[in-house]
Amino acid sequence: IRSILPQPNYDDGSLAPIVLRLAWHCCATYDVQTKTGGSNGATMRFIPEITDEGNTGLEIARNALEPIKQNYPRISYSDLWTLAGKIALESMGCPTIPWKCGRVDCLTSDKVPPNGRLPFGDKAASHIRSTFGRMGFNDQEMVLLLGAHGLGRCHKKFSGWDGKWTQDPIKFDNQFYKVLLEEDWQLGVVPETGRSQYYNGDKSLMMLNTDLELIRDEQFAKWVRVYAYNQSLFFKDFCIVFGKLLELGIERDSGENVLLPT
Ligand code: HEM
Repeated sequence: IRSILPQPNYDDGSLAPIVLRLAWHCCATYDVQTKTGGSNGATMRFIPEITDEGNTGLEIARNALEPIKQNYPRISYSDLWTLAGKIALESMGCPTIPWKCGRVDCLTSDKVPPNGRLPFGDKAASHIRSTFGRMGFNDQEMVLLLGAHGLGRCHKKFSGWDGKWTQDPIKFDNQFYKVLLEEDWQLGVVPETGRSQYYNGDKSLMMLNTDLELIRDEQFAKWVRVYAYNQSLFFKDFCIVFGKLLELGIERDSGENVLLPT
């Protein structure tokens, strides 16, 4: 997996951010109440999930991983995509993320969750709480997971938003929280798509509305300050919560075998 990530002609020179986003979106459909969605099953291979607006562009990551699946057919897509997210993060400087194998791919589309479960970038703090709360995360964990927006960028052709959150989008660190607190964010519009987003002073960086909600909402903001000023704590806590994300909806029997999605 590590060997397919460097791509000098793609974005900032690496597929790692989009591979990470693939892993996150596989898991982000989880609903803790109904125990549906999540990475088990690799349901993103099927309609409607594959056509969810939020998954636009992720075929780049899936296609890049396909030769590995062809070479090692015994690994399930659900294991490959989540493992790739872990490896992508580690390739950008994140410490070791816990990951366990054993996910089982669905053979049919019966278990595909409905579209509309992924968070949307122009919404408010209440939307962050309802989508991540549905996955089973608390405020601190939401702020931690959003720290991944220090990586990669928005693409006009995928989401309509445009630009990167931090100056070094293929280095994993706590810059996202720092720039959120330190830059002066002004509302603007992406000229080609009409999407509203926030720009810093020299317009070299961007934020979505959901990102800025993390400093407007005091319960979120207190965690933004904690992690902006304590990178080693961010590293430690992020690895735990990302490991939890990768395990959403994975039920193992006493022999550590993963049960098929219900
Ligand atoms: C409120 C929650 C979130 C919203 C609304 C959101 C929205 C977005 C949007 C609109 C993009 C740009 C897509 C594109 O145009 O290519 C993006 C990119 C990205 N997101 Fe999020 N996201 C959220 C949470 C997360 C979380 C929890 C993670 C990981 C743990 C994550 C990881 C990423 C990464 C790595 C990229 C860059 C992908 C690339 O460079 O191609 N996001 N996100």
